[in-house]
Amino acid sequence: MPPAAPPTVDDILGLLRGVIDPELGGNVVDLGMVPAVTVADDGHVLITVKLTISGCPLRAQIKKDVETRVGAHPGVSKVKIEWGEMTPDERSAVMSKARWNAKENAPDTAIPANTRVLAIASGKGGVGKSSVTVNLAAAIAARGFTVGVLDADIWGFSVPRLLGISDRLEAQKVDGSDRPLIIPNERRVGAGTLKVVSTGFLVDEETALMWRGLMLTKAVEQFLNDVRWGQLDYLLIDMPPGTGDVQMGLARMLPRTDMLIVTTPARAAQKVAVRAADMARRSFLRVAGVVENMSTFICNHGEHYALFGEGGGRELAETIGAELLAQIPLEAAVAAGGDSGAPVAIDGQGEAAQAFRALAERLVNETVPPIALAGCSARMLESIELTLGRKPATAS
Ligand SMILES: Nc1ncnc2c1ncn2[C@@H]1O[C@H](COP(=O)(O)OP(=O)(O)OP(=O)(O)O)[C@@H](O)[C@H]1O
Ligand SMILES: [Mg+2]
Repeated sequence: MPPAAPPTVDDILGLLRGVIDPELGGNVVDLGMVPAVTVADDGHVLITVKLTISGCPLRAQIKKDVETRVGAHPGVSKVKIEWGEMTPDERSAVMSKARWNAKENAPDTAIPANTRVLAIASGKGGVGKSSVTVNLAAAIAARGFTVGVLDADIWGFSVPRLLGISDRLEAQKVDGSDRPLIIPNERRVGAGTLKVVSTGFLVDEETALMWRGLMLTKAVEQFLNDVRWGQLDYLLIDMPPGTGDVQMGLARMLPRTDMLIVTTPARAAQKVAVRAADMARRSFLRVAGVVENMSTFICNHGEHYALFGEGGGRELAETIGAELLAQIPLEAAVAAGGDSGAPVAIDGQGEAAQAFRALAERLVNETVPPIALAGCSARMLESIELTLGRKPATAS
């Protein structure tokens, strides 16, 4: 059989349209990242790929995708990539395309395009993800924002109890939708509102155990798609313990999600916590920062004790190149507030309450830079979100 004829440049561009820049949400050709392709008679293909910055960590993935896709053409004998870096003008052109993509992709979920999405995750269970989620959500809402709380701990839910909400969720037919949508439970906090969904509003705790076999990502997908979220300034997602399916699913469904990694001060725990950050990186989610919970123990007399050790949060932050955004002390009031459905962050006066409020203020007022990705396309997405009209940080 004679060797297959070499492909045309158009053939190659067609194949490259299958290579997606996951952060910019578009294929490399339409994003203008492939300025030149040449095909020699012997099937050697030379492709120039321009990255937003040359050190972009997505480079290895793009390289692999380009080589695999182009190399699969029977007429291609060799694939070579020449790397380039965009000029500032080219970068801004890519941004406007990516902005368009972001808008185009928005209808995939019911989460508005300008909602800042934060997933609260950890390497292991019981470190306080859910407590951080509800307190942070309440503290942000108290500043006048509308905050969605999505309990992605599908069968280990604790958000309903922590927020003192038990109303069953109802679905309603909504104008413009072809199917009934779930109406989230609402709770006013100060000048703002919480909108909450959890499987805990659908089943009781015993029935929930029977859900173990359910595809978790399906349930989370439904909470993203089939809920009438309406306008949302923030969406906080309480992740199930550990890393896995839900995180991968989230990365696919809401790639603009930022992760907050919760850890304890015990230094020995950091190896596990690093796993959560690694997972985030692998699924192209950005890490907004580290929250150390159960830091010092403050007894009723105000004395501080480092019960669970010291330095874990800082160590983790340094290891993964993220910022340590808060240290929340271990305080009886946090657990009591959780048991009574009254998060301390709302009007507690203790140090934990203040630490939660300071964390909220920081997240609202500062655009926390994503780790280790500065300057590359991942970083640009943040500017895109800002351009799309995230609420001005001064509102309170
Ligand atoms: N800063 C704190 N001070 C005192 N108690 C706390 C603090 N943070 C969390 N707790 C308590 O620790 C327990 C575990 O917290 P929480 O349920 O928030 O952790 P989690 O990481 O969500 O757990 P899981 O992995 O099971 O979902 C709860 O009883 C909670 O009230
Ligand atoms: Mg939890």
